[in-house]
Amino acid sequence: MKSMLILLIASISFSIFANTETDKGKALYIAPGKGGCATCHGETGNEPVMPMYPKIGGQNELYLFNQMKDYKMKKRKNGLFMTMVVAMERYTDEEIRLMAKYLSAVNSN
Ligand code: HEC
Repeated sequence: MKSMLILLIASISFSIFANTETDKGKALYIAPGKGGCATCHGETGNEPVMPMYPKIGGQNELYLFNQMKDYKMKKRKNGLFMTMVVAMERYTDEEIRLMAKYLSAVNSN
């Protein structure tokens, strides 16, 4: 009986920890009607819909965070930046951090 209880507690806490920051970041990244990130960059960030769009999956977390912040603050203005200014408008710094965490965790083969 006691071991059953331990097993139960262990599986409950496992499912809590399964909802990691990476999972939250992914949910924000693919959320329909929010930034539309996956529409342009693909679900893993590495299937851009156009050859001139960058692959971002597996990139360094801090680099990704800084780029997204720069677009949001209108500090990065190169190439096709306008699409990204619009995309980042609806995200808080904390949400950007979580998305950077998700994208950097993607395997960049
Ligand atoms: C309409 C298409 C489009 C959407 C939607 C979009 N992006 Fe982008 N993204 C681009 C393009 C194009 C660039 C390259 C812009 C440039 O030249 O600076 C880019 C650049 C980036 C970069 C910088 C890559 C690098 O190597 O510096 C990151 C990170 C990024 N996007 C993440 C996101 C995230 C996260 C979202 C959702 C909030 C998103 N993008 C939504 C098209 C898009």
